[in-house]
Amino acid sequence: MNPWLLLLLLVLSSLNPSSSASNSISVKQPLSGTQKLISDGGKFALGFFKPGKPDYYYIGIWFNKISKQYPVWVASRDTPVTDPTTTQLKISADGNLVLSNRSNPNIWSTNIRANSTSSTTTTTTLAVLLDTGNLVVRDVSNPNIALWQSFDHPTDTWLPGGKLGHNKVTGVSQQLTSWKSKEDPSSGLYRMELDPEGSTSQLSIKWNNSREYWTSGTWNGQIFSRMPEMTQRQKVNFYFGYVNDTTENYFTYSIKGSFISRTILDVSGQIQHQTWLFDSQEWTLIWSQPAQPCDVYSLCGPYGSCDQNVKPYCKCLRGFSEKSPTNWDLGDRSGGCARNTQLQCSRNSSEYGPADQKDKFYAMSDTGLPDPPPISVQAGSASDCEQACLNSCSCTAYSYGASAGCSVWYGDLLDLKEHASTGGGSTLFLRLAASEIIDMSPKTNKGAVIRAVTGGAAGCLIFLVVVLVLIWRRRRGTAGKSKAVEGGLLAFRYSDLQRATNNFSEKLGGGAFGSVFKGILPDSNAAIAVKKLEGLRQGEKQFRTEVSTIGTVQHVNLVRLYGFCSHGTEKLLVYEYMPNGSLDAHLFQDGGAGATTVPDWTTRYQIALGTARGLAYLHEQCRECIIHCDIKPENVLLDACMAPKVADFGLAKLLGRDFSRVLTSMRGTIGYLAPEWIAGVAITARADVYSYGMMLFEIISGKRNSDQQGDGEIKIGFFPILAATRLMEGEDAMMSLLDPRLKGEADAEEVTRACKVACWCIQDNEHSRPSMGQVVQILEGVVEVNMPPMPRTLQLLADNMGNINSL
Ligand SMILES: *[C@@H]1O[C@H](CO)[C@@H](O)[C@H](O)[C@H]1NC(C)=O
Ligand SMILES: *[C@@H]1O[C@H](CO)[C@@H](O)[C@H](O)[C@H]1NC(C)=O
Ligand SMILES: *[C@@H]1O[C@H](CO)[C@@H](O)[C@H](O)[C@H]1NC(C)=O
Ligand SMILES: *[C@@H]1O[C@H](CO)[C@@H](O)[C@H](O)[C@H]1NC(C)=O
Ligand SMILES: *[C@@H]1O[C@H](CO)[C@@H](O)[C@H](O)[C@H]1NC(C)=O
Repeated sequence: MNPWLLLLLLVLSSLNPSSSASNSISVKQPLSGTQKLISDGGKFALGFFKPGKPDYYYIGIWFNKISKQYPVWVASRDTPVTDPTTTQLKISADGNLVLSNRSNPNIWSTNIRANSTSSTTTTTTLAVLLDTGNLVVRDVSNPNIALWQSFDHPTDTWLPGGKLGHNKVTGVSQQLTSWKSKEDPSSGLYRMELDPEGSTSQLSIKWNNSREYWTSGTWNGQIFSRMPEMTQRQKVNFYFGYVNDTTENYFTYSIKGSFISRTILDVSGQIQHQTWLFDSQEWTLIWSQPAQPCDVYSLCGPYGSCDQNVKPYCKCLRGFSEKSPTNWDLGDRSGGCARNTQLQCSRNSSEYGPADQKDKFYAMSDTGLPDPPPISVQAGSASDCEQACLNSCSCTAYSYGASAGCSVWYGDLLDLKEHASTGGGSTLFLRLAASEIIDMSPKTNKGAVIRAVTGGAAGCLIFLVVVLVLIWRRRRGTAGKSKAVEGGLLAFRYSDLQRATNNFSEKLGGGAFGSVFKGILPDSNAAIAVKKLEGLRQGEKQFRTEVSTIGTVQHVNLVRLYGFCSHGTEKLLVYEYMPNGSLDAHLFQDGGAGATTVPDWTTRYQIALGTARGLAYLHEQCRECIIHCDIKPENVLLDACMAPKVADFGLAKLLGRDFSRVLTSMRGTIGYLAPEWIAGVAITARADVYSYGMMLFEIISGKRNSDQQGDGEIKIGFFPILAATRLMEGEDAMMSLLDPRLKGEADAEEVTRACKVACWCIQDNEHSRPSMGQVVQILEGVVEVNMPPMPRTLQLLADNMGNINSL
C-alpha cells in the first residue's frame, strides 16, 4: 500500500473518536459492553464494572490510573444489570442520560426534569466525564450549564471538589451512603450528610437513617468544633470550605499535591480519608471518624459484639453464630447473629421440657449495655430480676445492680461492646437455651481432642521431613574440604559450623533474614555468632563478592564479620560474638526473671554516640557508602563493656530487592522506617538517620515507640509525639521525658541534646535531617543544635490520636 495512504488512514482513524476511548456520550455514541469513557487527563474512567457477584454489573466511575477498580461513583446502585453487552448507557430522546435494554428503556435515568421554558424535544445533550471524576450532562448549545452532574448524587465516595450539602432551590441534597458490603454497591446502613434541617453547619453520620453516632461539630469558619486536629491538616494539604448562599449550602474540600486520594464512607461505618500508594498498591489511611471502630452504631449487628482490643472487632455473642457468614465476611453485618438453639419458651408447649430445662443466663462481664434501651423493673434481688426476664418470652437479657436496680431487654440486642471501659463495664445476663450452657464443656473437650490428633499428625509429618532432609544431607556430603581465606575472610565448612554450634542448638535470635546461633571455634576457643541466611536468591559468585565487601568494613562500632559458609543453597555468615546481646533486651526488659539492671544514662549516651559513629563510618568513610536500611535496637549489639556495635550492615545489598519486601512485612521494624520507604522513592543514607532518630527516642524513654498489632498497621506510639511536643514547649520540660526507671539521674543538657537530635532525625523531608557525621558532632557537643520543627507526619499522627496531654 502507498505509505502516504497508510499515513492518511492512520491520521483519519485517530481523528475518529470511536477508535480511541472518548470522554463523552452523545446521542450518536452510546456506551455498552466493555467500552469505557476516559476523562481528558486520563484520571478517571467510566463503564460497566462487576464488584463481586457473577452477572451483577453496574455503571461506575473509577480511578483510571489504578489497575484494580475502586468505584468512586455508581449510577444504578440498587439496580444491577445482568448483561452489559445488551445494555446501553445513552442519551435518550428527552435529553436524559439513561441506562436501558430492550425490555426496560429506563433501568436508570438522570431524571432531568423537563420544564416549560425549554422544549426538551429540541434539547441536545452530551454527557462528559471530567478529569475531576465528575460526570456532567450538558446542553450542547449551552455547555456552561450542567443540567445534571454525578457530584450532585454521590454514592459512598466524596472526591476533592465534590460537595456535601443541600440545594435550597431544587431541594436535592448530597449524602454519602455506604455500600451494603465490600462487593455490593447497593445502599448500606450508614449515611453521612450535612445537617438536613440546615440550621447548623455540621456533618453527621447516621445508622439506618435514625441513629446518629457521629457528628463533626459545627463549622467555625476554619474547623469543625469536634475535629480540632483539622487545624494542622488545613495548613498541610487538606482544605475544607463551607458555602452558604441563597441557592445552596455545602461543604467541599480540596487537596494540594498530585496524589490520588478519596474520602469514603466505608462499609465499616467510618468516614475515611485515604491516599493511594503506588508502590505497595494499596490505600493508606490518613484519617478516619469516628476514630474508634466500635463507636460506629451497631457495627456488628443484632447479637454481635464489638471489641476494640481484638481483630476482627466483631464476633457473635456466646450461643450465637453469624446469620450469613458470607455477608459477615464481606463487611455486611446487618443480619447479625442468630441463636444456635431456640429459647425453650419459644418452642411449642408439648416440647417444653422439665423445669431444669428452662432457659438459663450467661453472664457477660465488663460490657457496654446494649440497645434498645432497657425497661426498668421493680425487683428486690438479682434472682427476682432474672425471674422477671424469664416471665416474658421476648425478654433477651437483664442486668442487675444494687443502685441501678433491675433492667430487662426485649427483642434483639444491638450495639453491644465488650471491654467497654467508657460504659463503666457492667455485667449483662444473656438469655440462652439451657442446652447452650450445659453443652459448653463437652464441646471444648471435643475440640481439644481434635487439636491433639491433628497436632500429632503434623508432628509426625515434621519428623518425617526432618529425617528425609538429614538423609539427603548425608548423601550429599560436604563441599569444600578445607578452610580457605578469601578477601580477609574465612570460608567455613558447613560441618565445622555444625560442630562449632553444636548442630545449631543455641539460638541467639531470629530476624527476617534468618536465625543466629552461638558457637565456639574449636581451634581458638573464640565465641562466634552464626547467622543462617534465609531467602537468599543470589548466585555463588555474587554472594562471595558481596560478602568480601562486607568483610572489608571494619570499625570499633560495627560487628566484625569473620567469615562465611556457602553450602549448596545454605548460606551462613560468621560474626564475632557479642556477650551482652542486643540493645532491645536491655532497654525494654520488663523486670521479670533474668532481668539485669537497666543501662544508666551515661551508658545509654555512649551507646547512642557509638552507634552514630558506626553508622557515620558506614555512610561516609567506607569505600562504598553502605546504607544499613534496618536500624533498630535489635541490630545494635553490646560487647562485654557495653560498647555498641551495629550488626547486619550490608545485608540490604546482599539480599537485593527482596529486602524491602521483607522489611515492610515484618513486625517491629516498620516503626523505624522513614516515610520515603513508604513513598517508594530512592532510599538514601538519610533513611538510616530517620531510623536512628526513632531508636534514639527509645534509648531516652526506655520504651518502644510503636506498639504494633498484627496486620501491618502502623501505630506509632505517643513517645516521639510527646517528645516533639515537649520540645516545642521549651527545653525545661525535657527531663520529664526520661525513662522513669532512671529516677531523673541524667545530665539534663545531654537529654535535651539527644531529644533535639532525635527530632531532627525524624523530619519528613530527608534534606532536613542531619547526616550521621553531624549527629556524632552534635552528640559530642562539638556543634550546637537549633530547635527542630515538629515533623509533619508526627503531627498528623498526633492529631489522629487526640489530645496528647491526656496521655
Ligand atoms: C433488562 O434489564 C432488566 C433489569 O436489569 C432485566 O431484568 C432484564 O432481564 C433485561 N432484559 C434484557 C433483554 O436484557
Ligand atoms: C427551565 O429551564 C431554563 C433553561 O434551561 C431555566 O433557566 C429555568 O430556570 C428552568 N425552570 C425551572 C422551573 O426549572
Ligand atoms: C445560611 O444562610 C441562611 C441565610 O443567609 C441563614 O438563615 C442560615 O442560618 C445559614 N445557615 C448556617 C448553618 O449558617
Ligand atoms: C432500619 O429501619 C427500618 C424502619 O425504619 C426497619 O424496618 C429496619 O429493620 C431497620 N434495619 C435494620 C437493619 O435494623
Ligand atoms: C407449634 O405447633 C403448631 C401446631 O400445633 C405448629 O403449626 C407450629 O409450627 C409449631 N411451632 C414450632 C416452633 O414448632
